[in-house]
Amino acid sequence: MLIEIPHVLGRTELEKVRKMLAACTYVDGSASAEPHAGSVKNNDEVARDDAHLEALNDIVMGNLVRHPRYRAGALPRHVATPIYARYRPNQGYGTHIDNPLMGAGQPYRSDIAVTLFLSDPADYTGGELVIDAEFGERSVKLDAGDAVLYPASFTHRVDMVSAGERLVAVTWIQSLVRDLECRRLLFEISQTRELLRQEKASRDALDRIDAVYANLMRRWAEL
Ligand code: NI
Repeated sequence: MLIEIPHVLGRTELEKVRKMLAACTYVDGSASAEPHAGSVKNNDEVARDDAHLEALNDIVMGNLVRHPRYRAGALPRHVATPIYARYRPNQGYGTHIDNPLMGAGQPYRSDIAVTLFLSDPADYTGGELVIDAEFGERSVKLDAGDAVLYPASFTHRVDMVSAGERLVAVTWIQSLVRDLECRRLLFEISQTRELLRQEKASRDALDRIDAVYANLMRRWAEL
């Protein structure tokens, strides 16, 4: 299940974010990956002690976590601090699977991976996020400000950038609902509920679908 989330960041926010990213210090991204993933990873990441990170996270994560489609699709229990990655010509990230457990000291499970696109697709060539989804590969290259959520259990890669610069924020979520199929069903119900509301369905119909959603959540959520 891939969920695209449009307009996480608007034009003004994107400009602020890009301005800060242009002033950041970058380090070799392969250092933050496990040995296997590190050997296929070729990008740069904003240094963990960069002074711009707090302001960047306020804008990027503030907007992401408020987005109703993110909330319905991820059912987040824990969301990690993002990594800001930069890919320039001849950089990419070969096929790999993300670590199942992340975080030093207080580990969390990576159920869902998020990529938020910060560069306009016209500003770079290549650099597609290619996800080995259930029915074959899906190639993802979204407008600046849009994000994609995908199961961290899917192998994926970032194709080599051949021109321009690709900036993204990536993060991981531990979901309240660990099972992908259960999350998918809950997302479907929430989207259907929204459609029924827009189509002015009866109070009774909305109450019934609310009750189904609530009781499945009670059954499946892990705290
Ligand atoms: Ni990855």
